[in-house]
Amino acid sequence: MTIQEESKIRHDLLTPVNQIIGYSEMLAEDATKDGQIQYLADLKKITLAGRNLTDQINQLFKLSEVKNNLTENTSIIPTEVIIPANSDNDLTGKVLIVDDIEDNRDILARRLKKRGYQYEMAENGAIALNKLTQEKFDLVLLDITMPEVDGYTVLKTMKADNVLRNIPVIMISAITEIDSIVRCIEMGAEDYLPKPFNATLLYARVKACLDKKRLLEQEKNYLSERLQTEATLERHRSLAQMVAGVAHEINTPLGIINTAATILDSRVNNKDISDLFEDNTEALEDIMEATDLIKRNITRAHNLVQNFKKISVNQTADIKESVNILETIQDSIELFKINARQANLEIIVQDNIKQSRAWLGYPGYLTQIIINFLTNIERYAYPNNKGGKVIIDLADQQQNNQTYFVITVTDFGHGMSSENVTKVFDPFFTTGRMIGGSGLGLAIVHNLITNVLEGSIKAHSELGKGTSFCITLPNNLGFN
Ligand SMILES: Nc1ncnc2c1ncn2[C@@H]1O[C@H](COP(=O)(O)OP(=O)(O)OP(=O)(O)O)[C@@H](O)[C@H]1O
Ligand SMILES: [Mg+2]
Repeated sequence: MTIQEESKIRHDLLTPVNQIIGYSEMLAEDATKDGQIQYLADLKKITLAGRNLTDQINQLFKLSEVKNNLTENTSIIPTEVIIPANSDNDLTGKVLIVDDIEDNRDILARRLKKRGYQYEMAENGAIALNKLTQEKFDLVLLDITMPEVDGYTVLKTMKADNVLRNIPVIMISAITEIDSIVRCIEMGAEDYLPKPFNATLLYARVKACLDKKRLLEQEKNYLSERLQTEATLERHRSLAQMVAGVAHEINTPLGIINTAATILDSRVNNKDISDLFEDNTEALEDIMEATDLIKRNITRAHNLVQNFKKISVNQTADIKESVNILETIQDSIELFKINARQANLEIIVQDNIKQSRAWLGYPGYLTQIIINFLTNIERYAYPNNKGGKVIIDLADQQQNNQTYFVITVTDFGHGMSSENVTKVFDPFFTTGRMIGGSGLGLAIVHNLITNVLEGSIKAHSELGKGTSFCITLPNNLGFN
């Protein structure tokens, strides 16, 4: 008999015996749970007879040596220990059971179901691979010996796939197939589960695998979130630096143009010179109009450059002091109302601060931030002086022994598309170029909050529903 033939006969003999053991163990568990202990002794006899038969088959194939080595390691957990179903709240996850023998699938499925796991079954490798590409699984229990597409092929295909390679695989195999198990572990399988299935071992290995996967996923999410935040901050920082640099460079030629325009202006308004155009007043009017245009646009360019400069503000530009944050916000609203008399905003301030309102920071910058929000709301949330409600909510929260103020400015107006929300803090992003928007307001706000006030800002918006900006500021700037 060849090794392959021997191995096949052994496999065929062990399969039904393993089922006898599996079902009798499961019945014993059910009997214990339902209080029908009169059946326990007989069921135990069936289990023992099954185990005895397994030993004899293994002896027959002279493989008991391998088996003994392995059972030594696994027998730490007694077979008779019965774990109550759902004793652990964390037992969630979807498992794919792949085995060509129906009763094996059934035993595993029933055991997993008892413990509250979701599962799907596949009777061969091809079906398993198909299911894996269509549904999301957290774990695969994979039989090695199956006709046509066997366990190795499934494992190999999974490990070659960018997505599937992250799903842990526990190989299920007869304890005698030690070489195969080693090969699978080398190929990337997470663990193995010997047949006959030991309930305790099954639960322990499934849980360990799922816990590990969950932890890895959490870590991955946390890392990618942090990297993304850092990348966004870095992008803003370098853009802000560039804008400030450009502003600085433009300032000098702008000053020269301004001087030149002033000279032009005074000359064309000088009578001696205007008399020279006696025969051609139209030309004089053109020159005067052009001069006026230059002057007005220089003023506009000058204002823009001032804004460009603000984008890279640093601490020294404003005075750091301890103020009542609620009063600072109320003062900012008053200032906005004076400057925007026509604005029809109904601004409601909600004070939810539980502890002190004292804030050591830069009140001038906070005022600038609040006015920027309100100006945007007037322009974009409720355009054409339509007016509407604005809620400014003020709260405090504790985090790592530090108190933070959380200021949320909410409107119920036009809102933004999800694509625009991701761009609002980018310098020059504006939908209001036609009405004089330069797209710097929120870029400056972002810069002030993250670089000067040591806080963070988030925007949420939905078209037709409104927008809210949430800022978090430490109550004590420079404390850390
Ligand atoms: N409350 C809001 N509701 C709807 N859209 C808004 C709101 N706030 C800002 N936006 C959108 O974000 C864009 C960027 O705002 P930002 O303040 O940076 O620039 P701007 O107001 O267009 O120009 P600037 O402030 O420089 O004059 C706006 O053009 C607008 O599309
Ligand atoms: Mg603005």
